[in-house]
Amino acid sequence: MNNLMRRAQNVQLWRKYCVKQYTTEAASASLSRGKPNYDEFIGGRQVQAQRSIVVQVSSEKSYSELYNYCSRFGSIVGAHHYCVRHDDDLHYILLEYSTVNEAAAAIDSGAANGDLSGVPVRSPFLWFKAAPGRRGPKLAANTNNNNNSQLPLSDLLSVDGTRQLDQASLLSQLRCAASIEQQVQLLHEHTQLNDLGVRMRFLAALQVQQAISGMFPAAQAHPFGSSVNGFGRMGCDLDLILRFDGETGVRKESDGEPPSRLIYHTKENLSNGRSQTQRHMECFGDMLHLFLPGVCHVRRILQARVPIIKYHHEHLNLEVDLSMSNLSGFYMSELLYMFGQIDQRVRPLTFSIRRWAQACGLTNPSPGRWISNFSLTCLVMYFLQQLRQPILPTIGALVKAAEAKDVRVTEDGINCTFGRDLERVGFQSRNTSSLSELLLQFFEFYSQFDFHNRAISLNEGRQLAKPDHSAMYIVNPLEQLLNVSKNVSLEECERLRIEVRNAAWILESEVENSTLQESERQDESWGLLNLFKHPEKAVIRPNMFFKPRMVEVSDLFEEKQHQQQQQSTTGLSSDG
Ligand code: GTP
Ligand code: MG
Repeated sequence: MNNLMRRAQNVQLWRKYCVKQYTTEAASASLSRGKPNYDEFIGGRQVQAQRSIVVQVSSEKSYSELYNYCSRFGSIVGAHHYCVRHDDDLHYILLEYSTVNEAAAAIDSGAANGDLSGVPVRSPFLWFKAAPGRRGPKLAANTNNNNNSQLPLSDLLSVDGTRQLDQASLLSQLRCAASIEQQVQLLHEHTQLNDLGVRMRFLAALQVQQAISGMFPAAQAHPFGSSVNGFGRMGCDLDLILRFDGETGVRKESDGEPPSRLIYHTKENLSNGRSQTQRHMECFGDMLHLFLPGVCHVRRILQARVPIIKYHHEHLNLEVDLSMSNLSGFYMSELLYMFGQIDQRVRPLTFSIRRWAQACGLTNPSPGRWISNFSLTCLVMYFLQQLRQPILPTIGALVKAAEAKDVRVTEDGINCTFGRDLERVGFQSRNTSSLSELLLQFFEFYSQFDFHNRAISLNEGRQLAKPDHSAMYIVNPLEQLLNVSKNVSLEECERLRIEVRNAAWILESEVENSTLQESERQDESWGLLNLFKHPEKAVIRPNMFFKPRMVEVSDLFEEKQHQQQQQSTTGLSSDG
């Protein structure tokens, strides 16, 4: 079966899936209520994006007028307003139709902007022009003429859907929580990427895919990383992998037909695959920059291990990292997604640890000699695997449970085969620890971890002898000869050990103080909040377990800022 047919079939499949899942206005709710596997989640969201358009409006008050205008193309099942904050707030409404064809009809009705120059590009990003001779929306709210007439119009619209809880309100919520356990849950609830955030990321992917679909009808742009793995927070970047051929490493089954004798003429490949990818990306970067609405600040980082194009999407207020190779990152995201699905403590715990690391300056949005969020997440996953009563299975156990349909091998031969059916994996944890206990155990565990001699293997769920002199060694789960944390310097590894020890010390005294009266709690910073204090306030606590080489936190902070400046000019990747 060729790629096009396969893709058409996939789309059919997802349409079927989505008809089942999303025919009501509660589309997103049904996605989050169920426990879709990764393919269902990705496929469902991709079709949801195809059923959606984003329209710039003068304010959320334009909604009823927009709704009435756009209802002529089909049945609107959801609407989400958001603001992109500049000097003036820019307002957008994401409209979701009940079918892909209805959204396509709305897009196809779009006209070129006669007032401005520029190449008109068909995309889901539109602008709602004021009606001639009319000033502002005057239509009654319930004059809609589609199937949702029984719903009050206002119930369809979520307003300001990407506004994040500001720091002060978040801290106040955490102060008022009843326990550390609840603080961890609240932090997760209030900072995780919400439904609209996911929709926007899949629309950004769809825009790229559609832009090149004329020349590359099988092209697919797949979001991966924290946008889809369940560990993303509001405002996280979008990692995107673009495949011109739609190939995702899924093993092809022969359909019994002899291969076609008509072969596409193609341009000859450059001898070096890497320089070819770089050349394609250069050209593609120009195309994004010149033609795609919303895309701005395009930067090409082509010398990194995985060459990427970075850009900002001004209609979505989103930073995007687009790559064309490294499909293993996509499957790594699937592994993390599955880990998050296996036990409901995994995501809240990881959010608290990522937040703590950010607060004490261990992680940083730009790559460098410090631990990345991805490596830190691997540390959390490993910690949960190695407990006496494990909360997560090893990746080896997932591999053992693989069936023929789980075989995935990327074009560069990386084997990403593991069991995707969690029931078949059959892992059941008997661990009953609370989130606050796990948090403390995490800090204690890494206070004692021998980073100097030992490597971490999530494949085996155990420590191994370190194969080289890297300061920190986490075996790359999908490319086991590589070290995920190769970029981490000795100083940064040392700093991590100091900070986990401080955190363990703080948390232990917090648990002892857990008898504080409710009124005392609201006034004071307590529990998780004490972990999120700034690094300059962090004190080096007496060491209960060992004596590491002492490094002044402030020295390291300065060094890190220096390295960061250097990295941002060279654009190096931190990948191992
Ligand atoms: P934030 O962007 O910091 O929110 O986290 P992230 O999980 O998206 O991390 P990042 O953008 O650095 O990487 C994106 C995804 O690529 C990760 O979630 C992993 O799935 C994958 N990834 C990153 N580094 C590696 C690596 O060294 N090996 C493999 N196999 N995958 C990686
Ligand atoms: Mg990312």
